[in-house]
Amino acid sequence: MANDESQSTSFSAERYFATQLPPASLEADVAQVREWVQRQQEANRQVVLVTSGGTTVPLELNVVRFLDNFSAGTRGATSAEYFLKAGYAVIFMHRQFSLQPFSRHYSHSTHPFLDFLDVDDVADIQVKAAERPQLIEVLKTYKRVQGAGTLHMLTFVTVNDYLWLLRAISKELYPLGRNAMFYLAAAVSDFFLPRQKMSEHKIQSGKGSLHIEMDQVPKILKPLVTEWTRGGYIVSFKLETEDALLIPKARAALARYGHQVVIGNELHTRKYQVVFVSPATGKPAQTESGGDSDSSKFSESWLRIDLAADPTKEIEEDIVAELVRRHRVWSGSGLSSQPAA
Ligand code: PMT
Repeated sequence: MANDESQSTSFSAERYFATQLPPASLEADVAQVREWVQRQQEANRQVVLVTSGGTTVPLELNVVRFLDNFSAGTRGATSAEYFLKAGYAVIFMHRQFSLQPFSRHYSHSTHPFLDFLDVDDVADIQVKAAERPQLIEVLKTYKRVQGAGTLHMLTFVTVNDYLWLLRAISKELYPLGRNAMFYLAAAVSDFFLPRQKMSEHKIQSGKGSLHIEMDQVPKILKPLVTEWTRGGYIVSFKLETEDALLIPKARAALARYGHQVVIGNELHTRKYQVVFVSPATGKPAQTESGGDSDSSKFSESWLRIDLAADPTKEIEEDIVAELVRRHRVWSGSGLSSQPAA
């Protein structure tokens, strides 16, 4: 792919949205969210936007090849269930075909549904006795949530879909002020190929190696914090493959964006330990330079679970409980977060 040096490789959010096209379904998605948010406001519920799953970066306009970000969607789908249980209404903005709340218990790779069914001599189908208790529990909660209308699903595939949706949905949550929470667990690509640089058709092989210069995706947390929300409680995640980088990187993100908490997780230990990093005073730790050197500005607390003692325990239960507590303090709200599911 040609390297057009006349174009900058770093996009501001403004330039991004001025030059990249919105997904075709955006208007319809936003209209549905608007109605749904209004219903949650009328019911006096707190709302959390959960983002989940990886984003793709297409290499061609007629897309055959793309880059992807690692994420099965476990963190997001599991957390969404615990937020519902805590009485929140949840917008679950996820990568198409990644794990979803409730159905995640029957994922085709870990618990395929054919394996919990039995067929008898008269071709009648039954759920295996051993599977029934959990299935009944999941199904009851799922039906209750469906009846209450407290779970709204949205999908994205590309990083472009993700950015447009995040901006539009954040603006719909604006009226909720401090009663909205943003739980940004999606694995968002840092690089993309602007459509102006993309090959229209499938990139042909036969010319040796392929050189692609990607542009940097705008850091979307900045406008999210300063423009798109009105006091919403913002939780971002930091994924690293080296433990030693987690806290410095999380501090740097807080200093740069001025939001409320970064949850650091290391790729291989993320199912049983995470670290909450937040401004020490509870006030934004934003600095002009985004510098992270002054450790007194930040507080860190590790959250660990013992999977050997209880293999069924999910760390998201404790993550969500801690965030609900912090959000209650943050919003100082008289709103009830009564257990709903
Ligand atoms: O789904 P699982 O398999 O369970 O895995 C869960 C997880 C490990 C993916 C999840 O816990 C996690 O860490 N998600 C965030 C991964 C990530 O994208 O990290 P990052 O360093 O690229 O981004 C850090 C934060 O900045 C993110 O909250 C993201 O929303 C935000 N960001 C990222 C890119 C960008 N252009 N703008 C942003 O604001």
